[in-house]
Amino acid sequence: MNILVTGGAGFIGSAVIRYLINETNNNVLNVDKLTYAGNLESLDTISNNSRYQFLQADICDKVAMTKAFADFEPDIVMHLAAESHVDRSIDGPMDFIHTNILGTYTLLEVARVYYQGLSDDKKHSFKFHHISTDEVYGDLEGTDDLFTESTPYSPSSPYSASKASSDHLVRAWHRTYGLPVVVTNCSNNYGPYHFPEKLIPLVILNALDGKPLPVYGDGKQIRDWLYVEDHARALYLVATTAKVGETYNIGGHNEKQNIEVVKKICQILDDLKPREDGDKYESLITFVKDRPGHDLRYAIDARKIQQELNWQPQETFESGIQKTVEWYLSNQGWVNHVKSGKYQHWVEKQYQ
Ligand code: NAD
Ligand code: DAU
Repeated sequence: MNILVTGGAGFIGSAVIRYLINETNNNVLNVDKLTYAGNLESLDTISNNSRYQFLQADICDKVAMTKAFADFEPDIVMHLAAESHVDRSIDGPMDFIHTNILGTYTLLEVARVYYQGLSDDKKHSFKFHHISTDEVYGDLEGTDDLFTESTPYSPSSPYSASKASSDHLVRAWHRTYGLPVVVTNCSNNYGPYHFPEKLIPLVILNALDGKPLPVYGDGKQIRDWLYVEDHARALYLVATTAKVGETYNIGGHNEKQNIEVVKKICQILDDLKPREDGDKYESLITFVKDRPGHDLRYAIDARKIQQELNWQPQETFESGIQKTVEWYLSNQGWVNHVKSGKYQHWVEKQYQ
């Protein structure tokens, strides 16, 4: 199959593409604008493969997207491109409205026209897979409930509101125009190649630099952590086997308070790379001003994907976080380029 992946230079998109190239025989077109979060160095291990192609383009650019569909003739679209960081959405929501809502709208329109022109055979197998987040369901504060596929939407941040909007558009294009879509809503991912603006990589890299480890508020907020390669596997399964029109929640059954996560990383680092001054990494933990509108708890009920598609995570939080810290310790090249912004200079040189 030809699989068009948007946002393939990002954290999860690059894991999906590494999976598609290493574990399947499909051809991949990676469509990515290369914002600050897009890093082609995350694809170094597969970028020379003849089944992989890259197109630097904005998903909001209808002409470029129409051409990409016409040239590549995708059987499946896996749509991951988005502005993804909650704190940035609070600081400046415009890019989130633009990419997450208008970009998804543009892709849906391009996909609709493309789909209408397909033969009956090709129509039968075509799928538009929209990759979304558990944050659309809002906050689970004060309850032991889990998010199911029928939990009502109640997004809190500009980021989650923009993702909720895009989910609604995708479902509307299915119901109104018959576009064959599937939607997944996943919990917090972590693992290799994660951009160090997010909690886990930020804490690992700050700790190694002897910098404060910023914990928002009291650190008791809960997230449900999933190793990124488990997510990539789930996404491929949904894209290739799920019934059109379905939604699947994906999660790791790993509910942890932020402070527990930060302390766990500190313990692993104490073991793998003890500080030269003999202090424990935990002494760097610093409680800072809370995120406005901060959701207290997210947690996924992943029974539907487990029962219907036979997916479950292979990593526990303990095994996944150990692997993640080890990856950051042994991939100093990637880390240094990200920290210095050097990968962006490389991209300018390569694609000017
Ligand atoms: P990321 O920020 O690491 O990567 C996003 C990628 O999209 C980057 O490569 C960026 O260059 C690209 N991009 C942004 N705007 C674009 C545009 N206008 N045109 C083309 N490309 C553009 O994000 P991520 O963490 O890998 O998340 C990927 C998707 O998964 C997002 O849709 C996000 O909402 C969703 N998601 C993320 C998580 C998580 O924990 N990270 C969890 C659930 C769902
Ligand atoms: O739930 C899925 C979502 O997970 C995805 O849709 C988002 O794209 C992804 O960024 C992530 O959102 P979070 O806001 O949960 O992730 P982040 O790593 O930014 O923060 C995790 C928790 O840690 C959250 O409760 C805020 C807190 N935090 C974060 C940072 C960056 C801190 O305490 N200190 C920090 O410096």
